[in-house]
Amino acid sequence: MSQSEEITQQDPESVQTDSAPADVVTDHNHKLYIETVGCQMNMLDSELVVADLRKRGYELTQNVKEAETVLFNTCSVREHAEHKIYSSLGRLRYGARKNPKKVIGVMGCMAQKDQKLIFQKAPQVDFVVGTGQLAQVAELIDKARVNHSQNRRSRELAVGLGRKDGKREEITNSFQSYDPLRDPEMRPSPYQAFVRIMIGCDKFCSYCVVPSTRGPEQSRGPREILSEVKVLADQGVKEVTLLGQTVNSYKHTQDGKLYRLSDLLYLIHDVEGIDRIKFVTSYPKDMTNDLLEAIRDLPKATRYLHVPLQHGCDDVLKYMKRGYTVEDYRDMMHRINEILPGCSVSSDFIVGHPGETEESHQKSLESIREFRFKNSFIFKYSERPGTKAAERFEDDIPEEIKKRRNNEMLDLQNEISEADNAEFIGRQVEVLVEGPSKSALKASDDSADSLAEQLMGRSKCDRIVVFDGNPRLAGSLADVEVIDVTPTTLIGNIITREYQHQSGASLPILQ
Ligand code: SAH
Ligand code: SF4
Ligand code: F3S
Repeated sequence: MSQSEEITQQDPESVQTDSAPADVVTDHNHKLYIETVGCQMNMLDSELVVADLRKRGYELTQNVKEAETVLFNTCSVREHAEHKIYSSLGRLRYGARKNPKKVIGVMGCMAQKDQKLIFQKAPQVDFVVGTGQLAQVAELIDKARVNHSQNRRSRELAVGLGRKDGKREEITNSFQSYDPLRDPEMRPSPYQAFVRIMIGCDKFCSYCVVPSTRGPEQSRGPREILSEVKVLADQGVKEVTLLGQTVNSYKHTQDGKLYRLSDLLYLIHDVEGIDRIKFVTSYPKDMTNDLLEAIRDLPKATRYLHVPLQHGCDDVLKYMKRGYTVEDYRDMMHRINEILPGCSVSSDFIVGHPGETEESHQKSLESIREFRFKNSFIFKYSERPGTKAAERFEDDIPEEIKKRRNNEMLDLQNEISEADNAEFIGRQVEVLVEGPSKSALKASDDSADSLAEQLMGRSKCDRIVVFDGNPRLAGSLADVEVIDVTPTTLIGNIITREYQHQSGASLPILQ
């Protein structure tokens, strides 16, 4: 970046529309390319931004070269996620120079974390917009285009305050929930939608950037959430996934009444058209019985909990500042199994956290054997600048050891997942059909002459199920008899109505 180029905080007053031709902001091809990495929060944010831009005449393209508006929705949770974005940005350098109409924006967690640094590493970027400023994206695009037309780059920065940059209220207000229109095409499938019920996180696990990239924890009001779910149901959504970094810590007082996640589940359960309700991610210490009992008593609630343990050794959990011991987690698992027998539980694990000895790694493996997670997402520790862990500990586990521990954990988890999946063979599961499976999509040319194709969906305990069926079944609930399994998938045959009528009752029904 040339030193003379100015980096400004965003200032709407400085848009010099009077000196730019009036049609500058509209004279472009309106093709929008968006690349999203990270968690479901980011997928939802991308949906919301795309919905807003579509309303303004933009259309999505998969071709980054033809797009004159390019957005990156970024993640900072591990270094690798950041590298990916910087290399994508690097590939755009030439195209941006060649076409002055091309506007490039970076949004999301890395935008909030790296801020001006992004302009230094990727000078072709026009604006950087944090997780709480997404409502400004359209305006920032227009502003960049006006600047380009005058041969300038203003490099706008619109981000929330840092966690030490003011009073809690000021910091909280700088992270605005952005929940305008919804965009059906940007959803996992036309029948599934994410609904944000919380933003931010206050847990401050020592290794994690999220409390600074997403700001203070805030719960949205139940009335607003409910009306959003109703809109989604009217659009044909059958399954909603409620999102929060620690979603079971949800608390909101409205009209003098305190609402917890269990109360919210009851409210959403009454929405006509919604068949399934999920929520992620749960925090072990906040897994209260009222929530487990609500899941037990509400047929639309999935029998699935994603409650990351992160590590099986108390010493490491302490370094991580997770706020619980393995024994606390065990107590939680007992309560889950007692109140919700058959409920599946999945976890996240970090291997190679500073101070993790071979013995502590063995304890993590032991916890996988003991708790028999449906699946685990396993991550190699990645030092994140600005976190407590980065300040206090040296990233002292060599990459080779991290890799080996990661593979050992994956192998063990796969073995357990496959063995537990095998218990389903010969049983019947109720599946919300999402659409063609990945392999069906690949082979779509060959199967064009057949009515049935391989479909996929999920059971009520969140297992992926594939089976042959009519694509018209997408969006409906179907009963499937499981005939084979892999560590990640149940493979089955659909039970037709006639078959169900005659002999379905003889099959034991699992969730
Ligand atoms: N709020 C969720 C998780 C958010 S981040 C929770 O608390 O469970 C998703 C996962 O990324 C975490 O569960 C953790 O396993 C992993 N993760 C977070 N920071 C990491 C880091 N610095 N290195 C490696 N993995 C990390
Ligand atoms: Fe990160 Fe911990 Fe918050 Fe999860 S609970 S987002 S791991 S700080
Ligand atoms: Fe990544 Fe931000 Fe999600 S750091 S995991 S996109 S909350």
